[in-house]
Amino acid sequence: MGVFSRKLGVDLGTVSIMIYADGQIVLQEPTMVALTIEEERVVAVGQEARDMYGRHPEHIEVVRPLRDGVIADYEVTEALLRYFFRKVSGRMHFRGPEVMISVPYGVTSVEKRAVHEAAVRAGARQAYLLPEPLLAALGAGLPISTPAGNMIFNMGGGASEAAVLAMNGVVVANSVRMGGMRLDEAIINYIRRKYSLVIGEPTAESVKIQIGAAVDIGQELSMEIQGRDQVGGLPRTITITTSEVVEAIAEPLATIVGAAKAVLEKTPPELASDIIDRGVVLTGGGALLRGIDEYITQRVGVPAYRAEDPLHATAIGAGRALNDLAMLRRLVQGV
Ligand SMILES: Nc1ncnc2c1ncn2[C@@H]1O[C@H](COP(=O)(O)OP(=O)(O)OP(=O)(O)O)[C@@H](O)[C@H]1O
Ligand SMILES: [Mg+2]
Repeated sequence: MGVFSRKLGVDLGTVSIMIYADGQIVLQEPTMVALTIEEERVVAVGQEARDMYGRHPEHIEVVRPLRDGVIADYEVTEALLRYFFRKVSGRMHFRGPEVMISVPYGVTSVEKRAVHEAAVRAGARQAYLLPEPLLAALGAGLPISTPAGNMIFNMGGGASEAAVLAMNGVVVANSVRMGGMRLDEAIINYIRRKYSLVIGEPTAESVKIQIGAAVDIGQELSMEIQGRDQVGGLPRTITITTSEVVEAIAEPLATIVGAAKAVLEKTPPELASDIIDRGVVLTGGGALLRGIDEYITQRVGVPAYRAEDPLHATAIGAGRALNDLAMLRRLVQGV
């Protein structure tokens, strides 16, 4: 006894990292690291790094080591994983954890190898990788091992992926390297154009989360935000409303949702009829946007349903796959 290895389902996302172990989410933190610029020494990881964003001294930078769902900075990703693996491994666990990590569908073998290597060097005893839409579908409880077609649309921070799954594998999939971060950017641009006000990324994200919507939701929410006047340079406060956010994000949202439409167009007719009956299940943080189910139903032409716990679906699926060896074998063979 004593030589346990903890099994961790890891959703290594562009915006956040979630870890599932022993039946529950045990960690949810921003995928951010604060470093000294010259020596690249890590000074903070996760939420602590995010809290420093925009208010750190000039010898420090706060970075996101993933871009569009893939590793952009290898060393920093390794440091981040090491920190979080340690954080969730209790003292009972002398051996490194066994981990299942999500990777975007369609990543290159080089990109995949980078994730595998980063996980092993960060202390994982064994690391498995599976595509995010497959794990998200599993986490959302879709019956992916049946011959019937099931469709998932995972709307992440840096990438959005739609896939039709059957018999433990991906039948067709499509992704765009665009997600919630692009919506934040669109809000920043809109406010700059309309109010000559410069706001930061965290403010834009909270506007989207607190009052944002994909379509007119029949309820006008509003929020006061502070920014810096583009001309005078001084701080100024404005009030922004839901319908303004709907307008601000319309363009990138249409492109993101186009990924789901494209998948349906490529789906074999036998499976397409299943999807029309069963609809598409939405996961990822973007699935929490108000009215997104209605918007996708209209745009894609099949009923869209938000998963029960969209934000955690991928990590839950990763944990489930790892804990069910028979399932793991089937999934790994299906890829
Ligand atoms: N209530 C909400 N309404 C709208 N968007 C939200 C909400 N909550 C979170 N988000 C957005 O969801 C995104 C993060 O989602 P998620 O954690 O699924 O992404 P990720 O896994 O880190 O990224 P990726 O899968 O693209 O690598 C962020 O852009 C965030 O702003
Ligand atoms: Mg994700």
